[in-house]
Amino acid sequence: MKFFIDTADLGEIVDLASTGLLDGVTTNPSLVAKSGKSFLDLIAEICEVVSGPVSAEVTATDHATMLAEGRHLAKIAPNIAVKVPLTVDGLKTCKALSDEGTMVNVTLCFSASQALLAAKAGATFISPFVGRLDDISFDGMALIADIVEIYSRYPALTTEVLVASIRGPRQVADAAKLGAHVATMPPSVIRQLFKHPLTDKGLEAFLADWAKTGQSILGSEVEPLRKPA
Ligand code: G3P
Repeated sequence: MKFFIDTADLGEIVDLASTGLLDGVTTNPSLVAKSGKSFLDLIAEICEVVSGPVSAEVTATDHATMLAEGRHLAKIAPNIAVKVPLTVDGLKTCKALSDEGTMVNVTLCFSASQALLAAKAGATFISPFVGRLDDISFDGMALIADIVEIYSRYPALTTEVLVASIRGPRQVADAAKLGAHVATMPPSVIRQLFKHPLTDKGLEAFLADWAKTGQSILGSEVEPLRKPA
């Protein structure tokens, strides 16, 4: 499963990209507004840090202007995935951009039939929002199961399921069990993935016992063993 970071905070992207475990970035207009930065400059800076897909969302709602915005964004770097909303004009734009060889992420997906339309429109990624469905007492993960199953029945559909609006690590594991291709997560959730109280407790005990030995691994030279031929 690929891990994308869902933020427009460049500091967080740089920090978590240093783990070597980030495969891409997703942004949206709300996250860009929160960053207070110039959108085009910010996206260019992100593309310098991350070589995987970087989603940048159009803000027009009509096809002609969406297409112009998408082409403009795609000029920034080859790893731009133009993000379009799941509307009629958004999917027309998806089709046009993907026919031109540009990656497209279709966002604001809340139903399996919408996901099917996006795949037919040539989307590189479909972004179902699991957290926002859970927020209104729908089952976000059931939607992921439906989309994964539907896509698997039509091998010609190459769209990747990008699980978005993730609220915690449990959803990441559940989405992986279903075979979703990508999880995009806020930085806080990525950090939570590493954590378990028993890991902390176990490490504390190991280090306390190690300290009792008075040894240091780097304290003396290592002579490589020479095995007889
Ligand atoms: O970027 C799209 C999605 O991940 C937004 O999540 O938390 O605003 O529902 P959220």
